[in-house]
Amino acid sequence: MKTYLVTGGAGFIGANFVHFMLNKYSDINIINLDKLTYAGNLENLKDIEANKNYSFVQGDICDKKLVEKLFAENEIDYVVNFAAESHVDRSIKEPEIFVKTNVLGTVNLLNIAKNAWQVEGGFKQGKKFMQVSTDEVYGSLGKTGYFLETTPLDPHSPYSASKTGSDLMVKAYFDTYKMPVNTTRCSNNYGPYQFPEKLIPLLINNCLNHKNLPVYGDGMNIRDWLYVEDHCKAIDMVINGGRIGQVYNIGGHNERTNMQIVKTIINYLNENVDKEVTEKLITYVEDRLGHDKRYGIDPTKIKDELGWYPETTFEVGIKKTIKWNLDNKQWMDNITTGDYQNYYKNMYKK
Ligand code: NAD
Ligand code: DAU
Repeated sequence: MKTYLVTGGAGFIGANFVHFMLNKYSDINIINLDKLTYAGNLENLKDIEANKNYSFVQGDICDKKLVEKLFAENEIDYVVNFAAESHVDRSIKEPEIFVKTNVLGTVNLLNIAKNAWQVEGGFKQGKKFMQVSTDEVYGSLGKTGYFLETTPLDPHSPYSASKTGSDLMVKAYFDTYKMPVNTTRCSNNYGPYQFPEKLIPLLINNCLNHKNLPVYGDGMNIRDWLYVEDHCKAIDMVINGGRIGQVYNIGGHNERTNMQIVKTIINYLNENVDKEVTEKLITYVEDRLGHDKRYGIDPTKIKDELGWYPETTFEVGIKKTIKWNLDNKQWMDNITTGDYQNYYKNMYKK
């Protein structure tokens, strides 16, 4: 019975990962350590909270005493570190919290895991620290080419710089102590439970409320979209089969301009849900500072070494995501009151 310490499991990808793992395996324990920031939501885990293989601890990954206590009380086999401040726009306004959680929090986890797992001459068998990182650490691409694991790190936003800092600390723990680690760098995720500050759920929510659809700059920036379950599958494969110390890129060659995403969502909702959802809602707004132009992942390494491939095409995934948001309107309504609304008002001055 393996025990996973999943951090940030109440957020978007973390919650999907907890569901994915508990559906797939009946012989694992998951301890979810989450601070429940504005982005963490226990509603995302309501259906599994009574599962005997799952427990929740509210707390900060920077809290040394708490993390040490979790390691002292449980034989933790894997740390899967999702916990992070994850939104680029927020990082431009408030960089410090990104350094605190993303860099110092990761170092705290690394250090305590190292102390718990280190034995004379190495590390206990079967342990692994899994760092969930992002393609944004590579910076921005021109019209051609893809991010490889060997692409130089060149982050631009405080968010991506903080993720790069944590990636390098993970690398340092491998290079220095030979600690068993892996890092994954995935492209943009979409799917159930995504917080509506991110492009796709924001567009769906605004369309349904007949609000403007804020498009940064000319709408021609490109992101490489992956359905969240395919990311979860990849992380599981890397935990089980990834070569120690290696980085794995994750992405499904699904590049779209932001405007293509906007139009896809408008067209689907117009045809299937509400005739008042039209392109008239599109509003060009001031561009994001330092806005990366294009991301595009080369996933050859994870495909060749671990046999990973994306199962959900964008055409299927986007419909599933829109449908999930329609079926879970109460979830969205609960979120879009309070902190998020104030944040949203201040950010875009609508
Ligand atoms: P999210 O913002 O939806 O969730 C983050 C979670 O971390 C929340 O539950 C929050 O409460 C928790 N958290 C924040 N600070 C914490 C702290 N100090 N201690 C404990 N918990 C804390 O983020 P997400 O989109 O699910 O991203 C998860 C991870 O995946 C991040 O590390 C992110 O960098 C990475 N990632 C995201 C994407 C994407 O497209 N969303 C793509 C690649 C990688
Ligand atoms: O690439 C992986 C990254 O993807 C993750 O590491 C980040 O945690 C995640 O937030 C995401 O970052 P992006 O900045 O790419 O995602 P976001 O949804 O914020 O924006 C996607 C694109 O849409 C980007 O080009 C900015 C643009 N955009 C975004 C918002 C919120 C708009 O045009 N209007 C908007 O209102």
